[in-house]
Amino acid sequence: MITALRGMKDIIDEGAKFEYILQVATAVARRYGFELIETPILEETALFKRSVGESSDIVGKEMYQFIDKGGNDICLRPEGTAGVVRAFIEKRLDKAGGVQRYFYHGPMFRYERPQKGRLRQFHQFGVECFGQQSVYEDAAMILMAADIFDRLQIAYTLEINSLGCDACLPPYRQALVAFLAQHTEAICGDCQRRQESNPIRVLDCKNSSCQALYAQAPLMADHLCGECEGEFAQLKEMLDRAHITYRHNKKLVRGLDYYNKSAFEFVSAEIGAQSAIAGGGRYDRLVGFLGGRPTPAVGFALGIERIYDLVSLPSVQRGGWYLGALEPEALEPLFFLSHTLRQQSYTHFSAEAKKLKAHLKAADRLGVRYCAVMGETELAQKSLWVKDLVEKSEKHILLSEVQGG
Ligand code: HAM
Repeated sequence: MITALRGMKDIIDEGAKFEYILQVATAVARRYGFELIETPILEETALFKRSVGESSDIVGKEMYQFIDKGGNDICLRPEGTAGVVRAFIEKRLDKAGGVQRYFYHGPMFRYERPQKGRLRQFHQFGVECFGQQSVYEDAAMILMAADIFDRLQIAYTLEINSLGCDACLPPYRQALVAFLAQHTEAICGDCQRRQESNPIRVLDCKNSSCQALYAQAPLMADHLCGECEGEFAQLKEMLDRAHITYRHNKKLVRGLDYYNKSAFEFVSAEIGAQSAIAGGGRYDRLVGFLGGRPTPAVGFALGIERIYDLVSLPSVQRGGWYLGALEPEALEPLFFLSHTLRQQSYTHFSAEAKKLKAHLKAADRLGVRYCAVMGETELAQKSLWVKDLVEKSEKHILLSEVQGG
């Protein structure tokens, strides 16, 4: 038997939840002024190397990378931001000025070791805002993600940090590199490699002896310049005033290299080790870095599969029709009636003549409101016998009444 690839899942039982999550997230994003953007799943490998960063695990270890028939080095996108930025620059929107906001959703691919909550193909809903330098936008992003989770009735913890800017990050990095140089022997192989390529990522190491050591490490929070410190204080104040509870996690560094200033993650305590349900932050350097006119930007993405188990579908009101024939001759008029009713409401046409009891049972299972059947009497009278499954009432109505003619 051929099965799905390891770490890849069909959306088959969770279809309704998948749709519901997207519907809630999209409705909230639209209220914040975001518009849909769709970018290709395949992009040049260089795009992710330059944006997500060569030293990140995503690019270093997890890319679905291959050479296509034309000899191009391409890969399946591991995340959505890089493609959106590429499209934004390619369309010359960086030159247009003003503020542009986009939302997207779709599959992302990371060749990680599959485990609960960690897939090789997973789906994100993400948003990106370009052209807004203000920390108000950072706060709005966090409020928007919180709004989505609140509407989905998902409990979360919010962690925030500031990753500094071009003024304060380099001296901080130097301080951290000096600290690591004193402890090279004691840190794990991954951290030794990061020490050279991207020292800040060591703070994210899962190794407990590294973590014990990093309790003494210098932290960005103590090295922020006046501007970053002021903005971060403002962000915290805005969250306080909006009654959003957060924790300042001074070791939150994010797994992608493009971030600066505000960074945040939404975490759930109910889904095991892979607990991040959304992550994002500011990335003011990326547009310029990929060849566009320097444009401030901020965004986040949430993992749809990570929240399946946390979402309960709202109970739906019974609605729509079930049309069932008691005699084969009733199939044709009911088929055409279903065509008419579907212009207005959900209609199930049962393509086999059956006993009334079987139709009622099927109608109940489908959750419709009206179960209408046609037998000999109804054929002669050009009518339907209709049971309202909510009111539990029954009556005969003329076909012409339902068909509106
Ligand atoms: P990220 O933190 O790498 O950020 O991913 C965002 C979310 O995707 C995570 O919080 C998690 O819920 C989900 N996720 C990540 N990896 C997996 C996986 N292997 N299996 C299942 N779910 C996963 C980004 O991707 C950034 N592009 C977010 C962003 C947008 N920053 C600015 N704009």
